[in-house]
Amino acid sequence: MAEDGDVVSPSPAAAWSRLRLRQSTHLRDLTDETTFSMAHLVQPVFVVEGLAAPEPIAGLGDNARHGEQDALARIGRDLEAGVRHVLLFAVPGERDDRPARFPVMAQAVRAIKTAFGDALHLWVDICLCAWTRHGHCALFDDRGGIDLGPTLASLGAAAVSAADAGADGISPSDMMDGRTASLRQALDEAGHQRVTMMSYSTKFASHFYGPFRGAADSAPRHGDRRHYQIDVRARHDALASSVRCAREGADLLMVKPGLTSLDLIDPIRTSTGRLVGAYQVSGEYASLVGLAERGFGDFDALLRETLLVFRRAGAGYVITYGARRGRTLGLAG
Ligand code: PBG
Repeated sequence: MAEDGDVVSPSPAAAWSRLRLRQSTHLRDLTDETTFSMAHLVQPVFVVEGLAAPEPIAGLGDNARHGEQDALARIGRDLEAGVRHVLLFAVPGERDDRPARFPVMAQAVRAIKTAFGDALHLWVDICLCAWTRHGHCALFDDRGGIDLGPTLASLGAAAVSAADAGADGISPSDMMDGRTASLRQALDEAGHQRVTMMSYSTKFASHFYGPFRGAADSAPRHGDRRHYQIDVRARHDALASSVRCAREGADLLMVKPGLTSLDLIDPIRTSTGRLVGAYQVSGEYASLVGLAERGFGDFDALLRETLLVFRRAGAGYVITYGARRGRTLGLAG
C-alpha cells in the first residue's frame, strides 16, 4: 500500500506506450477523439512479389495488387489525396512450411520509407497466412494442432524484420494467444521501443473477408479459421480478447469486421482505456461497391455514411479501402 506522500511510479510498459503514441504528429492526430478528418483513416495497400502490372482486386473498386514500383506510385498519389496512414500487406511469391524470412515485406517497407519518409506512418500487417503453404495464420505440429511456440517465433521474426526495415508500426492480425506480449518483447529486445503496435484485438471468424483473401492469396487450403478467430456469438470472449491485448501492451486496439462489431467499440474503450479502431473489411467495402454498381446508391454517399457511423460508435480510427477518397467525402486534412 502506498503511504500518504509516497510517489506511485507508473508502470514502465504503460509509460512507454504513451510515449510511443505521442511521438509524432501522425500519431497524435490519429489518436485525437473529437474531430473526424483524413488523420483518422488508414489505407490498406497490397504489394505482391514480382508483379509486373497492377491487378485490380475484384469487388474493391480502385484497389489493386501492386508490384513494388507501382505501389510506390500508388502511395504517392494516396499521400497527395491526404492519406497519412498506410497498412501494408506483403504477399510473397513463394511459400514455406516454417516461414522465417520475409524479404518482400522488408524490401517494400524500405522502399516506401526511403521514398516518403515521415510523410506517412507505415503500418505493416503481421500474419503468416500469406506465407504458409496451407494458408493458415499459424504453424501446425505433426498432429495438426497449432504449434504456438514456433508460430510466435515466426511472427516475431516478421515483426522485427519490418521494424528493422523502417516500419513505423506493426499490426498483428493472426489471433494467436499471447502474440501481443510476445511481439512487444521481440521488438523491444531488438531496440524497437518506438515502433507502435495496432493490434487486431477483437477479430471474428467472419464471412466478410472474401475479397481480401483473393487479394492476399491467403484463403486456407483446408478448414477455416474458427479455431483461432472469435465466434460471432461470443460477446465476452470478444471483449476479453481486447482486454488481454491491452494488458499485453498493444498501443491501439481494433474491432474487425467493423460493421458487425459496432456494439463492442465503446465497451472495449471503457474497459481498457485504449483507443479502439474499426476495420471496414473487404466484404463490407465490396457490399457498398456492389450496391452502387447495381444503381442502388451513390458510392461516396454510402461510404461516407458508414464512416460517420463508425465514428459515432466511438471508433478512434477507421481502416478502409476508401481512405484515399476521404477528401471527396468532405473530410478535412
Ligand atoms: C490476415 C488478414 C485478413 C484480413 C486482414 N488480415 C484475413 C483473414 O483473417 O482471413 C481481412 C481484411 C479484409 O477482409 O479486408 N490474417
